[in-house]
Amino acid sequence: MEMNLKGKNVVVTGAARGIGREICAGFAGVDAAVIGVDFRDMADTEGYLRGTQPKCRFEKFSVDLADPASIERGCAAILAKFSTVDVLVNDGALWGGLKITPLDKIPAEEWDRVININVRGTYLMIKGLLPGLRKSQGSVINMASSAALRGSPGCLHYATSKGAIIGMTRSLASELGAEGIRVNAIAPGLVDNEASRQFGGEKFPKMLEGTVAAQCLHTPLVEKEIVGTVLYLASALAAPITGVLLTVDKGLIKY
Ligand SMILES: NC(=O)c1ccc[n+]([C@@H]2O[C@H](COP(=O)([O-])OP(=O)(O)OC[C@H]3O[C@@H](n4cnc5c(N)ncnc54)[C@H](O)[C@@H]3O)[C@@H](O)[C@H]2O)c1
Repeated sequence: MEMNLKGKNVVVTGAARGIGREICAGFAGVDAAVIGVDFRDMADTEGYLRGTQPKCRFEKFSVDLADPASIERGCAAILAKFSTVDVLVNDGALWGGLKITPLDKIPAEEWDRVININVRGTYLMIKGLLPGLRKSQGSVINMASSAALRGSPGCLHYATSKGAIIGMTRSLASELGAEGIRVNAIAPGLVDNEASRQFGGEKFPKMLEGTVAAQCLHTPLVEKEIVGTVLYLASALAAPITGVLLTVDKGLIKY
């Protein structure tokens, strides 16, 4: 059996850095056409991909996931260029840049921004690219988080947004299954990366230590370790898999 991802059109949001950049590299590595979406500059991602895959196809689309009009424009531009979308990975979210904040100190504007980017932005990307997904009977992979399953203090808006992603994934799998479109989610544990360090600040080393101790596998989770599960869910190997949530967390949550 083959993954069958060669030449597929794969849209990855959150492509400018972090896990999203590694996901782009993973798809480039199996000769997919990678379509990066972010509001940050994606030149570093392009350089990173070309460093290992000089001939890979990487196209960038600047989209602000907080802005419905920007998403609509971006999706229209992607469809105008590619017509079909085989895979949509909704990785882009507000995580890096957030700081540990007790629930009674979260400003209403920050609550709205997190929910709008992480939940509405994911929904609108799926809605905007649906014509392309329909053409290919494609697959959607949404990024949830162990924060929603384990219950993480200091980020109520973020954990709530990731809980919504799980509900959205299951409902969409039911709704789009009739058209042959698969929708799955991944819940990584705490990843040892720049975004998590920004969130934890000086408490990050203790956060990481506590998480690693709670995992079955006692090593920190790193960005590259998320990629294989994304490729699997996107691939022909996962053809009968839809509506699932896969924890990718070294055994943090036995789900
Ligand atoms: N790092 C972790 O521990 C962890 C754990 C579980 C789940 N996740 C999820 O994995 C995904 C990637 O996380 P990460 O650690 O790489 O974080 P990150 O902050 O490094 O990456 C997030 C990406 O989303 C983009 N983004 C943010 N707001 C945007 C907007 N308004 N418009 C367009 N793009 C926007 C950023 O530019 C960035 O490229 C997120 O969905 C996150 O919630 C992360």
